[in-house]
Amino acid sequence: MRTGQAKAHSNMALIKYWGKRHEVLKLPANSNLSMTLDGFKTDTSVRFTNEQSSDAFYLNDQVADNKAFRRVSLFLDIARKQAGITDRAVVTSNNNFPTAAGLASSASGFAALAGAVSQALQLPTDGISLSRLARLGSGSATRSIHGGYVKWHKGTAADGADSYATKIAEQTDWPLSMVIASVATEKKAVPSTEGMKRCVDTSPYYQGWLGTIEDDLSEAEAAISEKDIERLGMVMEANTMKMHALPLSATPPFTYWQPATVSVMTVIQQLRHEGIPAYYTMDAGPNVAVLCEGKHQQHIHDTLRHIDGVEQVNICRTGSGIQLG
Ligand code: PMV
Repeated sequence: MRTGQAKAHSNMALIKYWGKRHEVLKLPANSNLSMTLDGFKTDTSVRFTNEQSSDAFYLNDQVADNKAFRRVSLFLDIARKQAGITDRAVVTSNNNFPTAAGLASSASGFAALAGAVSQALQLPTDGISLSRLARLGSGSATRSIHGGYVKWHKGTAADGADSYATKIAEQTDWPLSMVIASVATEKKAVPSTEGMKRCVDTSPYYQGWLGTIEDDLSEAEAAISEKDIERLGMVMEANTMKMHALPLSATPPFTYWQPATVSVMTVIQQLRHEGIPAYYTMDAGPNVAVLCEGKHQQHIHDTLRHIDGVEQVNICRTGSGIQLG
């Protein structure tokens, strides 16, 4: 029996991944950059056995729904092919954060799964190999292999061999905080895969997005190496607004924002006027993550908690990379 176990943290993109150059291999159209978050973690174990005729996936102590099961099973197929085996697997995954609050779990989930599966099947477990494998589960998972500040290099190879993430700064080099406001929503968000594709195919601004990415990345990397939060925050915020302009300009148009998303953005701008360095970013959903220094995190947390439509506020710090075994 082959078994493996891994823990991985989620991450928040500072410079976003938005658009693929290859759908199945999940190759991004642009390089991107993130901060790993210590607060949101997935703990996964896997056991391969020839005594079962199908895979099984338990998420947070329950049998996972069909959609999640299919994604995991397809990912297991890739790993089985790499290892040259046909055994089925039992996967058990637990998130330490409420999946229902709309906080993305695919990054930590597929990073932890890539680690556990690689260990079980004796596939390579170096950072590059794990990052490449995690990418095939979910693009953003490629970054969750590493801690601190992480860059996903888009690569140019057709088979994705050079599309993986590397760490550009340690978490201990410059620990920062992300205060994350979860926003109530009735509407189901357009899944990121579908949202990206619609923007690539129909937004007249998509080429403009690609045209400014390298400058945004250089600016963010310089800000991280100089530990300049204002510089990092300003480019992160501008980049998120450019990304969110793409859905608005797609056909048919859509948005991930809810009224409370805009309320949080407005409050953060006000805090900045009052002299508190705080900057916002949003992924493919209505939640808002606020980048700040640790000394301001509690004040920002308490301020966001009182905004109408904000359901929950979590504080995360710069987190560590994957842990196997
Ligand atoms: O990895 P996916 O398919 O969940 O896409 C992530 C897309 C964003 O979260 C919006 C941006 C990013 O870089 O994480």
